[in-house]
Amino acid sequence: MTPFPTNSGESRPASDLIRVRDLTKTYAGGDPSRPALDRVSIDIPRRHFVSLIGPSGCGKSTLLRVIAGLEGYDSGEATVFGTSPKAMCANKAVGLVPQTPALLPWKNVRRNIALPQKVNRRAGRGGEDPDDLLRMVGLGELGHRYPHELSGGQQQRVAIARAFGMRPEVLLMDEPFSALDEFTRESLQLQLLAMWERMATTVVFVTHSVREAVTLSDEIVVMSARPGRIHEVLPVDLPRPRDTALVNSPRMHAMEDRVRASLESAWQAGAAPDDLVAL
Ligand SMILES: Nc1ncnc2c1ncn2[C@@H]1O[C@H](COP(=O)(O)OP(=O)(O)OP(=O)(O)O)[C@@H](O)[C@H]1O
Ligand SMILES: [Mg+2]
Repeated sequence: MTPFPTNSGESRPASDLIRVRDLTKTYAGGDPSRPALDRVSIDIPRRHFVSLIGPSGCGKSTLLRVIAGLEGYDSGEATVFGTSPKAMCANKAVGLVPQTPALLPWKNVRRNIALPQKVNRRAGRGGEDPDDLLRMVGLGELGHRYPHELSGGQQQRVAIARAFGMRPEVLLMDEPFSALDEFTRESLQLQLLAMWERMATTVVFVTHSVREAVTLSDEIVVMSARPGRIHEVLPVDLPRPRDTALVNSPRMHAMEDRVRASLESAWQAGAAPDDLVAL
């Protein structure tokens, strides 16, 4: 295994990549010998669907926030299509669905979705109809409610609808389906794939579900923890569309086994969190 595995973007120009090079990040007060991200390098080609998977605390959310332009770093470099992440963020070209849905509590659901679209229109980009978006995530009736009147999974779906509505060039999703029942989750996976194809968006998707990562992705980035490193990049060599027949096929199961094996070796490669050792 190369020390800094990268994926199929190696031969592309930086303007066509989310490019992270030798990037190290330590949080203030964090242990400098175990940075949250340790010399992470990854190429994510434009229009690819890439999943990040790895043990809790391995830096998935941190990497996503760096790419979103919301988090600084100590050394190395991150660019999004040749531009700094902060500039992309200021342009509203990057949509982030955070691990905890950050809805505005004083605005109802419909207005929470419509807000980024106002910004989009000002920037000369069109937007999706908020009611269509709400229907897409199965919340067609709940546009008038306020976030505190929704379940956790419903709030997650509003955050997803809001991000879709921005029509971002890059969509960053941090465990967006984690609080959802299996059927809603599978339906939203299909919606997401349809949107990704229709809008030619680049998606970076964090998940703990091996099956979800394989169903959705072109590449799966397996990370290891303490320090947070890229362990392996696995191309998902399965045709699209990823329909029911494929999802239940031996090829799919073989790919899932490969990802599980990689996760197991990533777990062994990383230091176990102290609190788990203490148990
Ligand atoms: N704001 C912060 N201040 C200090 N340390 C932080 C902060 N945010 C994250 N960390 C630490 O950085 C490391 C990586 O955290 P991160 O949230 O990126 O992990 P993760 O892979 O997303 O985990 P999970 O799967 O549990 O969401 C962890 O050790 C975490 O404790
Ligand atoms: Mg996280």
